[in-house]
Amino acid sequence: MPSPSSAHTPLDIDAERLWSSLMDMAKVGPSPNGGSRRLAISDEDAAGRRLLLDWVEALGCTWHRDEAGNLFILRSGQDNSLAPVAIGSHLDTQPLGGRFDGVLGVLGGLETLRTLHDHQVTTLRPLTLVVWTNEEGSRFSPAMAGSGVWSGRLAQDAFFDAKDSQGVSVSEALEATNQRGGAALGSPELGAYFELHIEQGPVLEETDEPLGIVTGVQGIRWYDLRFEGQSVHAGPTPMSYRHDPLLAAMAFIQAMRDELGDDRDARLTVGDFSVIEPSRNVVPGAVKVQLDLRHVDEERLSQLDAAVTRLAQGAAEREGTRVDIEPIWHSPVTPFHDDLIRTLGDAAKARGNEAPQMMSGAGHDAVNVSHVAPTAMLFVPCLDGISHNEAEYASPEHCALGTQVLCDAVVAWANR
Ligand code: HGY
Ligand code: MN
Ligand code: MN
Repeated sequence: MPSPSSAHTPLDIDAERLWSSLMDMAKVGPSPNGGSRRLAISDEDAAGRRLLLDWVEALGCTWHRDEAGNLFILRSGQDNSLAPVAIGSHLDTQPLGGRFDGVLGVLGGLETLRTLHDHQVTTLRPLTLVVWTNEEGSRFSPAMAGSGVWSGRLAQDAFFDAKDSQGVSVSEALEATNQRGGAALGSPELGAYFELHIEQGPVLEETDEPLGIVTGVQGIRWYDLRFEGQSVHAGPTPMSYRHDPLLAAMAFIQAMRDELGDDRDARLTVGDFSVIEPSRNVVPGAVKVQLDLRHVDEERLSQLDAAVTRLAQGAAEREGTRVDIEPIWHSPVTPFHDDLIRTLGDAAKARGNEAPQMMSGAGHDAVNVSHVAPTAMLFVPCLDGISHNEAEYASPEHCALGTQVLCDAVVAWANR
C-alpha cells in the first residue's frame, strides 16, 4: 500500500474533470431556464445519486444508505479502525434551483476521491463522501432534515411523517424511489466533516475574495401561520362588514418588516403565501403564510420570535380574524470547530489565499453534523450573490480553487 501522502505534498485536482462532472450532474433534472429541479426524494434526485454512484464505483469505493436515505460513500484508509473524515453536502434542489447549491460540495468531494485515486494515495484515516437527504426543505419541511434525523436533532416521526403538497410522506417517497437504506441512523461515527458550498450571497464577490472560511451559521426560525376570517361575496359586502384574513396577513408581514427596521443582520422572508380555495369574487376565508426568519444573534432572533406572535395576533384582531401560529423549526446560531477552521485557513494560505472568515447566511447540513463531529465549511463566490435561482453560477476557477483547498484540508486532516 502506498504510504499516506503527507500534508505538505499537495495533490493537484483536475479542474476540467470537476467542471465536466458539474455540468453532467446539471443534465439530471434540468429546470426550464438552465437551472436544476431535483426535488428531495424524487425520481430526479434518485437519478442524480445514481450518476454519482456510477462515478464512485469506478473508483472502487463502497457505499450504503441509512434509514433516512442519507448516502455514505466510503474510501478505505490505512487504518480503518479510525472514524472516517467526511466531505458532504446535498444533491436535492429548490423547485427552480441552481446547478451549484449543494452539488459543488458533493462533486468537490468526488474530485477529492478521484484525485487520491489518480495519485494512488491512501490517507491514514478512511474518508466518506456524504449526500444528505432533503437539505432544501422545499418539498418536505423542515430543511436539513436528513442530517437532522441522522444527528438526532430532528425527531424521527417529524422526518418520516413529513408530507409534501400532494400528501406524499417522506417514508412513502423513500420507498417509491428505493432510497431507504438499512444502516442505523447516526452511523457511521464521523471523525470530522468538511463542506464546500457556494456562498449564496454577495459578500465574497463584493470584497473580491475567491474563498471564505465559514466559522458558523446564523440562526433560523420557520413558522406556518394560518389567518382565518369569513368568506363573503366580493360585491354586496361593505368593507366594514368584512373579516378579511388576507388583509390581516398583509398587515402582519408589513409590521414584521417594520420591526426589523434597519437591522442589517435580520432576514425576513415569506416564500409561500396562499389563499385557501381562492376565487376572484370571494373574500378569502383563510390564508396560509410560510415565514422564514434569520439572524446571526440568537438573542435578537428570540426577540423577533416574540414579535411574530405579538404582531400576528394584533393584525388578526384588527381585521376581526383569528391566527394560528405553528413554529415548525428552529436552528440556533451554530459555531464551527476552531481546528477545522484553522485547517481550511492554512490550506487556503498554502494555495496563496488569505481567505477571510465569515458566517453563513444559509443553513447547511454542517449545522447538524457540527453537533456530533468537528465541522467547518468553505465558501466560494456565486455570481451577483444569486442562489435558489436558475441563474445561479459559480465560475470554473472558483469551483476549482474551492475544491483544491477542500482536498488539501481533507488530506491534511485525514493524515493527522
Ligand atoms: O434554507 C436554507 O438556508 C438552505 O438552503 N436549506
Ligand atoms: Mn445548499
Ligand atoms: Mn439551498
